[in-house]
Amino acid sequence: MSALLTVEGLRHGFYGVQVLNGASFEVRQGTVTGLIGPNGAGKSTAINAISGALLPQGGRVSFAGTDITRLPPRERVGLGLVRSFQLARGFPRLSVFDHLMLYGQGHPGEGFWQSLTGGRAGRQHEERLAETALSVARRLKLDHVIDNPVSALSGGQKKLVEIGRALMAEPRMILFDEPMAGVNPTLSAQIAEHLTALNEEGITICLIEHDMAMVARLCDPVIVMAEGRKMTEGSFAEVVADKAVQEAYLGVRHDA
Ligand SMILES: Nc1ncnc2c1ncn2[C@@H]1O[C@H](COP(=O)(O)OP(=O)(O)OP(=O)(O)O)[C@@H](O)[C@H]1O
Ligand SMILES: [Mg+2]
Repeated sequence: MSALLTVEGLRHGFYGVQVLNGASFEVRQGTVTGLIGPNGAGKSTAINAISGALLPQGGRVSFAGTDITRLPPRERVGLGLVRSFQLARGFPRLSVFDHLMLYGQGHPGEGFWQSLTGGRAGRQHEERLAETALSVARRLKLDHVIDNPVSALSGGQKKLVEIGRALMAEPRMILFDEPMAGVNPTLSAQIAEHLTALNEEGITICLIEHDMAMVARLCDPVIVMAEGRKMTEGSFAEVVADKAVQEAYLGVRHDA
């Protein structure tokens, strides 16, 4: 399996505090790769550099052979690299369908301007998007609530809409930053099943997660980050048996 995403020597600091210290790792095509490490290890900052939310002060990010280090986020989405974001709070009354359509519009499709100005190409674009939204809702078992306002959904269903939003871009790879945080065990098991199904459809996944049972169940390989760089990588069993990994976690965790 070849690398779909390559991160080389990422460096970044906030107010003089170095948060990424030459982080280098790969996510191979077709995997569910876990990204773990103690609080403050730089995992979310790395994901921000990968998705384009943050321009790193040093290093390089490549996706599918293209250097994307300085590419705007929406162009990364156009290449098939998508992150799952928390739902915008601004549109609580929009239905699930409208939400999916909205984020489908957000990715750079050739029909976007036509759909604003009307006309045949615009209508065709709308229709294609609507079909995609329906199929995404079906995949996530949200079709029975597709006309409900997002504000009326359960917490778990909202999480699924977040995943649906990422799927609207027809991604090759999705980055997830703690998608199960704050979700009850039944729902996190459901989310885990969806992630597995997406991966079986061919979507590569990079998952930051603190719940070690989930990491054990879903992720292979697991990359361990500490102090802004990759510490080690291997199967879940290999990394948890690693003394250096145990020490990195010891006394540092305050949410376990
Ligand atoms: N925008 C920012 N401004 C200042 N400091 C930041 C900013 N973002 C992150 N940091 C700091 O960078 C360090 C690494 O943060 P990051 O969020 O990447 O860690 P993490 O590995 O995701 O941790 P956690 O597991 O707690 O989510 C932390 O000390 C954090 O306080
Ligand atoms: Mg984080």
